Amino acid sequence: MNTIDFLVRKDQLTTTELRETPALALEEGQVRLRVDKFALTANNITYAAFGEAMNYWGFYPAGGGWGHIPVWGFGSVLESRCHGVAVGEKFYGYYPMSSGVILQPTRLSSGGFMEGAAHRATLHPVYNSYSRCATDPFHTEQSEDVQALLRPLFMTSWLIDDFLADNDFFGARASGTGLMLLSSASCKTAYGTAFQLAQRQGVEVVGLTSAANMDFCRGLGCYHQVLAYDQLDRITSEAACVYVDFAGNAGLRRRIHTRFENLKYSSSIGGTHVGQLGGARDLPGPRATLFFAPAQIKKRNAQWGADVLGQRLLAAWRGFIGKVGDPAAPWLVVRQHLGGKAVAAAYAEVLGGRGDPRVGHTLSLALAPPARTT
Ligand SMILES: NC(=O)c1ccc[n+]([C@@H]2O[C@H](COP(=O)([O-])OP(=O)(O)OC[C@H]3O[C@@H](n4cnc5c(N)ncnc54)[C@H](OP(=O)(O)O)[C@@H]3O)[C@@H](O)[C@H]2O)c1
Repeated sequence: MNTIDFLVRKDQLTTTELRETPALALEEGQVRLRVDKFALTANNITYAAFGEAMNYWGFYPAGGGWGHIPVWGFGSVLESRCHGVAVGEKFYGYYPMSSGVILQPTRLSSGGFMEGAAHRATLHPVYNSYSRCATDPFHTEQSEDVQALLRPLFMTSWLIDDFLADNDFFGARASGTGLMLLSSASCKTAYGTAFQLAQRQGVEVVGLTSAANMDFCRGLGCYHQVLAYDQLDRITSEAACVYVDFAGNAGLRRRIHTRFENLKYSSSIGGTHVGQLGGARDLPGPRATLFFAPAQIKKRNAQWGADVLGQRLLAAWRGFIGKVGDPAAPWLVVRQHLGGKAVAAAYAEVLGGRGDPRVGHTLSLALAPPARTT
């Protein structure tokens, strides 16, 4: 049996390769999973763009200047030399863009396991945790595509909203309504955040997006106002506001910090605008601060306990996917890509970043494309 890997050049993300190699034999304690399906969004491109700086290449090292982009998805156990993990079991977690992977489970529980490979010991535990689908309250078989696409993103959205509310929106509501300015408003993490923020009192959620994605953002109904990137002057410069930055666009960040004299906080979440990323030095107003989701999880775990935090996340998730999947007006339409050629094409589309924001791509290198009938 061979493994198919989709690799990218770490210093040139447009250069990719499909590589087929014989699968290695398992060692004691290891399991072999087929990577059934995984999602690909701008989030994964950001992993690659910051692969060196934030060690995302370290999860599945490839060597020779090549990298495995980590992805969220589902894997099924094909072979097990680990007591407590059975053949046929399915796990949600952080996989390589490959047809299969060998993991080394430790700290097994009814809920899942932690990956125990030595090279991952220093990497963040959020990414080393694999949930057993059979006992996972988030899991339903019919929603696997939506889970792969939205679950990791919505957890962040929920935490951003929780963090801002926890800090009383940094005083932006003190004299009336505070504006929450969200860049890349059409991205899934931003609209998840908007969905949560729109349920709060005293805040108005403003989506900033490219001209082509304005109609999509307006249609979602979770933004009070949607503006194109060149329409900042439609908001009064005195407005009390918070910048929640998913785009990472240095020029846009500077324009926001320069225009809004009552900018109370500037939160750096992502970098969808891969071509316009840049530092945040010497800006007027508050320091642009990297949002660190694990810190908010740690705080809430300590305050509420893991069970209560889990219940609140689950309740919010159910509300969110109910809205996203509303058949009358879906926010997300899943498009599946099976096999190497289709995966490479989907990657090029997501990297290019000009696709339809309503489409969510799920990919598989393990499942073959359907045979063509003529
Ligand atoms: N810090 C964290 O813990 C954390 C967690 C989750 C996600 N994030 C970050 O949030 C960001 C959004 O991720 P996502 O998966 O939600 O994104 P997504 O849904 O795939 O985003 C698609 C949107 O991003 C913009 N975009 C994507 N590629 C682009 C390109 N090459 N050039 C210009 N614009 C581009 C466009 O939005 P516009 O036209 O509206 O600009 C596009 O509609 C990522 O940078 C991700 O890393 C951070």
